[in-house]
Amino acid sequence: MRTQVGIVGAGPAGLMLSHLLHQNGIHSIVIEARDRDYIESRVRAGVLEQTTVDLMTGAGLGERVKREGLLHHGIWLNFGGRRRHIPMTELTGGRSITVYAQHEVIKDLVQARLDAGGQILFDVADTSIHRFDSASPFIRFRKDGQPCEIACDFIAGCDGFHGICRPSVPEGVLTVYDRQYPFAWLGILAEAPPSSEELVYSYHERGFALFSMRSPQITRLYLQCDPEEDLAQWSDERIWQELLLRHGSSDDWAPIEGPVLQKGITGMRSFVVEPMQCGRLFLAGDAAHIVPPTGAKGLNLAVADVAILARAITEFYQYGRRDLLDRYSATCLRRVWKVQRFSWWMTAMLHRFGADNPFDQRRQLAELDYVTSSTAAMTSLAENYVGLPLD
Ligand code: FAD
Ligand code: DHB
Repeated sequence: MRTQVGIVGAGPAGLMLSHLLHQNGIHSIVIEARDRDYIESRVRAGVLEQTTVDLMTGAGLGERVKREGLLHHGIWLNFGGRRRHIPMTELTGGRSITVYAQHEVIKDLVQARLDAGGQILFDVADTSIHRFDSASPFIRFRKDGQPCEIACDFIAGCDGFHGICRPSVPEGVLTVYDRQYPFAWLGILAEAPPSSEELVYSYHERGFALFSMRSPQITRLYLQCDPEEDLAQWSDERIWQELLLRHGSSDDWAPIEGPVLQKGITGMRSFVVEPMQCGRLFLAGDAAHIVPPTGAKGLNLAVADVAILARAITEFYQYGRRDLLDRYSATCLRRVWKVQRFSWWMTAMLHRFGADNPFDQRRQLAELDYVTSSTAAMTSLAENYVGLPLD
């Protein structure tokens, strides 16, 4: 097989890249370790920045997200037993966020690629990448037990944090920046209508809690927990008890309870490699960086990387320009580090750290008070939350 861009991974980064390249007349093949059903039902992120929705709309993918996505104009920060509102749209000159599940974005992208005759090879095994230090890289894998090879001009490593592309870069090329947090999130999907039209981020002495949603019938909720937490110890009753306690507020707001449809634990990490490129291998999305989920940025950052990469590859084929490709890593990293900062800041402000002392708690409460009472501080939160411009 031969293509212009060989893409490893059919997550938001790989599929969006393939779609954007196709729109510019550039051929790509996507290979994916899992099957279609799996990637179209994997429960993950749910908040799309205005920047992401604009990009989807500009790429002809805006129809369903506009129809079914839930448009939000603010968020709530709940602390000291009281909710305070951050009116994001008002503070950012009309920008907003849209709640639309990551697996719905995946369904839209897979459908768009297949409708356009695009190639996504599902269920591949034993992927390896080769010769990306030369003008003739190639990808090897097995499909239905048979060995296969894709020759290409460029390889896009969009295979997530646990993929093979980043570890294939020779030692000494990448510098790793890593921070692990002493807590994780226990997340549930519940069959219950959202009791607030907007997300509620709650700071509580027992730990952070987040109220989110997926649709007018389904809520999504998270609790700060220990990274080694045993899910078996968390009955539905215990989860609801803890959620109600941490979200308690004096205006009598509370999540509506309902049957728990799914539960899982997500680790928290900040991670970046520099550069995001090695020869003709370009890393994008979680393959290059991870953010803790508090700022709702992982999916949005993945999509922003490939928007930048698609433009650089297009300029290369259309005009022979190499400068945008050469600058790919530097362009992405400027944005990546700002988003890392924001995600770290939201996480540090809202979670209880193991070694907390009364000073740290007072400092966190003062920060929450400042952020919800100063227009300058609120605007800073809002402009980051709705998404920084692409460049
Ligand atoms: P991925 O979505 O990970 O896609 C990579 C793809 O590559 C996968 O489909 C994988 O199967 C495939 N792949 C891996 N190895 C190979 C291989 N060797 N060969 C072929 N294919 C391969 N972000 C938020 O903002 N909010 C959240 O609440 C949130 N929750 C999350 C919960 C979980 C459990 C996880 C794992 C992530 C969560 N994230 C969240 C982060 C967000 O989902 C990611 O940032 C986003 O999916 C990144 O997209 P990506 O395309 O870079 O990588
Ligand atoms: C969701 C996840 C997040 O990490 C976040 O900050 C807000 C909402 C969600 O899954 O809905």
